[in-house]
Amino acid sequence: MFEEAQLYSPVTTEADGSVTVHLAHDHPGANDPAYRARREEIAKAALAWRPGQPSPAISYTEEEQAVWETVCRELAPKHERYAVTEYRAALERLALPTDHVPNLDEVTARVSALSGWRYVPAAGLVPLDDFYGALADRVFHSTQYVRHPAVPLYTPEPDIIHEVIGHGHLLATPTFGELHRLAGIAARRLTDPENLRFLSKVFWFSLEFGVVIEDGEVRAYGAGILSSYGEIEEFREMEHRSLNLVEMGTADYDITAYQPVLYLAESIDEIVDVIGGFFTTATDETIAAMAHRAAAAT
Ligand SMILES: [Fe+2]
Repeated sequence: MFEEAQLYSPVTTEADGSVTVHLAHDHPGANDPAYRARREEIAKAALAWRPGQPSPAISYTEEEQAVWETVCRELAPKHERYAVTEYRAALERLALPTDHVPNLDEVTARVSALSGWRYVPAAGLVPLDDFYGALADRVFHSTQYVRHPAVPLYTPEPDIIHEVIGHGHLLATPTFGELHRLAGIAARRLTDPENLRFLSKVFWFSLEFGVVIEDGEVRAYGAGILSSYGEIEEFREMEHRSLNLVEMGTADYDITAYQPVLYLAESIDEIVDVIGGFFTTATDETIAAMAHRAAAAT
């Protein structure tokens, strides 16, 4: 099942104002006091932020810059081979730094000039309705921490590398930026949390882990694949299934592992028709009916 707490390390604030980021026992930074302190410092800055203020300017350490640089260097040839055309065009147009971690306001300046999207800071998990709802206004809630340097290959949590290298380039494209926005508009129509969860799973299997046939090749358009150089190596070998909204919206999955099943669209047009069509028309009633069909089939 989709468990938010699995995806994000919970952040709590004590009465004295101290902030704790609760890393799972098997998190690569769990036994690294310096990493934990750094996560808490960055979370605290996000919690202190208020709308209208500049995003917290994080002074990234040399170690953090090195992780960003390593991931950018390793991903570049893979994006060239495996990313959809619009994403590759966005890499050039955005021209984000590859030698240092950009601050969120710098990301906003570049992305908003192309497509109007803004980044705002998030300490950790943002409630689903806030996270998805904000997409309707072209606002993206983003973490600012960097994954643990021991495993730059993969992070179970959405760190700034995922948020910016994965989503930022998609938000800068006409097709995938619009799909993010339509997901937000859909989320705002829903009142039942179960239906919002269904929508978040469709989002997961498309804008996070979607693959598509383009120019006769299987390519990735999901932010989760495009920001993970472990995942981007593997995605062509995984089980590919045709787009199926009922299956996608009700699937069980383990977000802490590589995705074993991916949904493969026949074309970009099919993504727009099926996923975009779902986001455009989904209501509490239509989603409840789809979930009911899935339950009846099992
Ligand atoms: Fe994401």
